[in-house]
Amino acid sequence: MNSREIRPGVFSVGAIDRDRRIFDELIPLPEGTSYNSYLVRGSTGTALIDTVDPTKESELFAHLDELKVDRIDYLISNHSEQDHSGVIPRILSRYPSARVITTPRGKELLRPLLHIPDEKITTVQDRETLSLGDRTLEFIHAPWVHWPETMLTYLREERILFTCDLFGSHYAYAPGEPTIGDLGRVYWAAKRYYAEIMMPFRGLIKGHLEKIKPLPIDIIAPSHGPVYRKPEQILSAYRDWVSDSVKNEVVIPYVSMHHSTAAMVSHLERALTDRGIVAIPFNLTVTDIGELAMALVDAATVILGTPTVLTGPHPAAVYATYLVKLLKPKARACGVIGSYGWGGKTVKEIAGILQGLPVEFLDPVLVKGLPGPEDLNALDLLADKIAEKHRSYGIL
Ligand code: FEO
Repeated sequence: MNSREIRPGVFSVGAIDRDRRIFDELIPLPEGTSYNSYLVRGSTGTALIDTVDPTKESELFAHLDELKVDRIDYLISNHSEQDHSGVIPRILSRYPSARVITTPRGKELLRPLLHIPDEKITTVQDRETLSLGDRTLEFIHAPWVHWPETMLTYLREERILFTCDLFGSHYAYAPGEPTIGDLGRVYWAAKRYYAEIMMPFRGLIKGHLEKIKPLPIDIIAPSHGPVYRKPEQILSAYRDWVSDSVKNEVVIPYVSMHHSTAAMVSHLERALTDRGIVAIPFNLTVTDIGELAMALVDAATVILGTPTVLTGPHPAAVYATYLVKLLKPKARACGVIGSYGWGGKTVKEIAGILQGLPVEFLDPVLVKGLPGPEDLNALDLLADKIAEKHRSYGIL
């Protein structure tokens, strides 16, 4: 069996990108990533499922050459983002008989992004099938994992679900070992990936998990990170992450200019710990935002710590607040603490950014200068309030 063969006639032909350290110029990649592409050989047709990032085109072609692939009939595009679709034009010029198979919305994106002519694209409806002779591909529309056009592809006879970004991990596995039996370290990479990419679509993913529940699945093959040979592990992790249940945790992203806000964060951290609550501060000047995103997956409460710069929150706190707004975590309460010199609109501006998130705003604790005993007492009262909330959520 070829080391790329994950099941007879099904090959992992993508590329590992061990050195990449940032994605979308936003997401840190401490463990690199991979762009998985899969070749499925049937008795009457051959399909390639997704391609790779354009920077890794030569690796994809080398793997196809290694397998002596002289014809591709169908190029399945589960997702139009360029790390998966970027090599479609080159595949089409090398394998001119290939047709791109995607959702109607996928076609609308592939056209402007890659200038693929309409006549090369066939759109498929939800649950439509495509025969490769002795093998059948079934297309399952699953919008917003991670763009509106996304779909999953199910290889019925081998019980493999190709999920592109969904269930993926930015994790550069060892060459020749593209599959894992147990989550192990990949759990954390997959949770980080969920936090950074999938969390805003938590509600929709719940529906997708229900939709694929009846499918017998032996392998989940995402397009980033290793293939899962025990799919129940990643499915169960996702069920937990997308659920409405929160943990007894308070995430405190903060920045401090002259140690006053930092002193408040330290005091609040101690006060929460004394009350049996897990406090997780993140100093935004040194924080890997992926770690912050991961903490937001489960936390019941978020408290932002910021000094007032001129008239508003510190730009680093604005960035973190905006990130919280974008990622839409399931936190139920949030608040602001911090120090100021002469006034300003810090709380109003942070509340403005978070507008629309279904969270309860706790009373802020803002202190003029260095916190004194009365200010520390106000933080104790905030910790009491958080404890009361967590008890009402049934987590304390
Ligand atoms: Fe891996 Fe949304 O692309």
